[in-house]
Formats: sequence, structure tokens, C-alpha cells
Amino acid sequence: MKKRIVLAAVVVCVSMMSAAAFAAGDAGEAVFKAKCASCHPDGGNIMKPKATLKGIKDSKKIIKQVRKGGGGMPAFDAKAVSDADAKLLADYIIKTFKK
Ligand code: HEC
Repeated sequence: MKKRIVLAAVVVCVSMMSAAAFAAGDAGEAVFKAKCASCHPDGGNIMKPKATLKGIKDSKKIIKQVRKGGGGMPAFDAKAVSDADAKLLADYIIKTFKK
């Protein structure tokens, strides 16, 4: 009987975790669409066609660019894009625009 309860608890935990992971992926995409896609549609760059988001593998580089801006890109401070969102955003860009 006890085993069943433990098993049920594990099942609930696992399904909650995957729901959270799913939501996190969506959040990165939502932030990208709201704040970045206007200049970087499909990971490109309408202002500087060579400075695309394609093939970037370093999330720190993305976060730094988001915070500092420059070269025509506005800076986004922690009020515009929170640290947590910046991380999700970077993960989204890395996994979405590989090439
Ligand atoms: C108003 C237009 C604009 C918006 C909005 C914008 N960017 Fe940019 N982005 C640029 C421009 C222009 C550059 C090129 C900067 C340079 O060459 O110095 C750039 C460069 C970058 C780079 C570096 C690319 C490279 O290969 O050097 C990254 C990463 C980046 N942007 C991410 C983002 C993210 C993430 C967002 C949303 C939070 C965003 N950008 C929003 C215009 C924009």
C-alpha cells in the first residue's frame, strides 16, 4: 500500500517537472517573439544582415548582447528582460537557430 503512494507521488512529480520544462521553452519563444523577432525574424537580422543569431552556441554572448545592445541594437535591462527570461531566451535562440 505504501509503495503505491510513493509511486503515485513520483508520477505526479515527474509530470509536473515536464510541464515546467514545456512552459520554460514556451517562455523563451514568447520573449523572443515579443522583443527580438522584429529585428531578428527567423534568427536573421534586418538591420545588419551579417549579424544573425544563427549558429551562436554561447548563451553568455547572447545575454551580454541583450544587456548591452550596441551596433544599432537597443539594450534590454533587467526590467525589460529579466535574468530568468534572458537565460530562457538564450536557450531558445541556441536550440532554434542552429544554422
Ligand atoms: C531594433 C532592432 C533590434 C532588436 C529589437 C534586437 N536586436 Fe539584436 N541586433 C540588432 C543589430 C542591429 C545587431 C548587430 C549589432 C552589431 O553588429 O554590433 C544585433 C545583434 C545581435 C546579436 C549578436 C549577433 C552576432 O552574430 O554578432 C545577438 C545575440 C542579438 N542581437 C540578440 C538579440 C535578442 C536576444 C534580442 C531580443 C531581446 C534582440 N537582439 C533584439 C538589432 C536588434
